This record gives sequence, structure tokens and C-alpha cells, in this order.
Amino acid sequence: MGIENIRKVGVAGAGSMGAGIIQQCAVNGFEVQVLEVNEAAWERGRNIIAKSLGRLVKKGKLSEGDEKAVWERIAFSTDPGAFQGVDFVIEAVIEDFGLKKELFEKLDAVCAEHVIFASNTSSLSITELASTTKRRDRFVGMHFFNPVPVMRLVEVIPGVETSQETVATAREMAKRLGKEPVVCKDVPGFIVNRLLIPMLLDAVRLVEAGVASVEDIDKAMKLGANLPMGPLELIDYTGADISYFVGNIFYEYTKEPRYAPPHLLRKMVKAGLLGRKTGKGFYDYEERD
Ligand code: 3HC
Repeated sequence: MGIENIRKVGVAGAGSMGAGIIQQCAVNGFEVQVLEVNEAAWERGRNIIAKSLGRLVKKGKLSEGDEKAVWERIAFSTDPGAFQGVDFVIEAVIEDFGLKKELFEKLDAVCAEHVIFASNTSSLSITELASTTKRRDRFVGMHFFNPVPVMRLVEVIPGVETSQETVATAREMAKRLGKEPVVCKDVPGFIVNRLLIPMLLDAVRLVEAGVASVEDIDKAMKLGANLPMGPLELIDYTGADISYFVGNIFYEYTKEPRYAPPHLLRKMVKAGLLGRKTGKGFYDYEERD
């Protein structure tokens, strides 16, 4: 289906990435059908969106009337059947192959044949995910970045059977959502995480080796490489569990030692020192906030 016929987007998952994607779709004029496991999960997603829209209103980038219209375009259900009638699907549920497979099988039965399925996976193979559906040529990766409303990139990843038409529609869709698409082959990490994850893990290795303090490593990369956040701050921002999980998956795929999470990161994850979301990681957010 061409971009001009897409009016309603189905977004599965309303975690930090899903919520950002839902917001971006609704702000850019699409009707959005949200799918989450229960009301409490959607409540958390709604809060993320409300906070983010609130920033835009406060800065005068969105009127209160437009904010209301954005909410009116968003509908929620726990029933995959609600995706009947959507024109495009974006999946942003947790990074569990079995769970995604089960979801895609259900959605495959519900959605019209022409509907494209896009996955926001950062660590699983698009080709493998596509193989769980009967629409392998209409299955593509669309990898967004956190925080979704701010980060301008979307990586578009064709699997081995994805059609050129699907890639073109996914690129157009990214643009309609206010993003810049880049196209990348289905390899572990795509472009950004392939380069970013080893850098983040190396920063942890520097802490482990006592090369410099956490603060100085971050300061060095902010002032010396012009990064908006230091690598350790970024691990805290996205969650130590995410860097650990993604590093492990890439290591499993590639057996390249640079993806193997260092012991310190493992210990932090096991101790629940995940960063902002648990109040403590490389920095203490309970004291800061
Ligand atoms: N929603 C809406 N707006 C937001 C926002 C959100 N969640 N978070 C920040 N903003 C806006 C702010 O309102 C502000 O807007 P303004 O320019 O109009 O004033 C602007 O973004 C900058 O925010 P702040 O002034 O609060 O703070 P910073 O200048 O430090 O920016 C940041 C915050 C955008 C998060 C910046 O620090 C940054 O870019 N950090 C790096 C993020 C990054 O690398 N993300 C990629 C992670 S990897 C990933 O996602 C892949 C996955 O697979 C793991």
C-alpha cells in the first residue's frame, strides 16, 4: 500500500519507544490504534506521552487545542482484533522473539493482506521476524531512537524477502513522522547500535580499569567529541539492562568480544542499578531530582 492510502496506524507496545512512536504518529495526523497487554501498561505509556506533549505545549510548539486533537486520534485496546482496519503496523513490544512471533501470528490473521508490518526491534533479525508471517515481502524494520519525539533518525531495514515497494513506503512513512530514514542491511546492530554499543561498553571497561572517574569519562566525550550525553549517562538514560541485553545478543550472533558486556555492567543489572528508571546507575537520580 502506498503512503497516500495510510490513515490509521496500529502500534503494538506502549513502553518508552512505543509511546514515542504513538505520539509521533498522532502528532503527524494519523489515527492510532494502540495495543497493550493491560490497562496499567497503557497508563504508563499515556503518562510518557502526556509528559512529552506537555513539554511541546509549554514551549508553544503545540497548542492546547492541537494537544486535545492528538489524544482524540489515539484509541487503545488489549485485543489484537482491534488492528482490523489499520493500514500500517509498527511493533514496539519487548525484545522477546517468542512473544513477537505470537503477536505477529495473531496480527497476520487480523490485518488486511496489503498491510505492511514494521518492527522497531533493535536486536532481532528482521528476516527471522518476517518468517513468522505470511507477508515476508511486506515486512520491514523501522528502528527509532530514544527519545523518539526528539531523535531524527529511523533506520529502515529490509529482510531478505522485503520488496522494494515496502522499503519505499517505510522510508516515506518515516518522513511523514518527521524523521530522516537511512536504509541498512539486516545485520546485528544495523548502523547506529553497531557503532554505539561497543563505544558504550568500552566506556564501562574504562571505569572497570580505573582509567578515569565516571564523571570525567562522560565529560571527556561531551567536551572532546561533542556528544550530547556522555556514554555512561546514555547507558543510564536508556537503561543498563538494555545495553547489557543488546550487547549479549550481538555477541551471541557475531562472537566478537567487543559486544560482550563487561562484568561491571552485568553486576549493575543484577543489582537493579539500571539508571534513571530505578533511580540509580552510574549516577544517583534520587539525589539529583
Ligand atoms: N519528548 C519531547 N521532547 C523532549 C524529550 C521527550 N521525551 N526529551 C527531551 N526533549 C526536548 C526538550 O524539551 C528540548 O527541547 P528544545 O530544544 O525545544 O528546548 C530538547 O529536547 C533538548 O532537551 P533538554 O534541554 O531537556 O536536554 P538535552 O539538551 O540534554 O537533550 C536529549 C536531551 C535529547 C535526550 C539529548 O541529551 C540527547 O540527544 N542524548 C542522546 C540520546 C541518544 O543518543 N539516543 C539514542 C539512544 S540509542 C537508542 O535509542 C537505540 C536503542 O536501540 C537502544
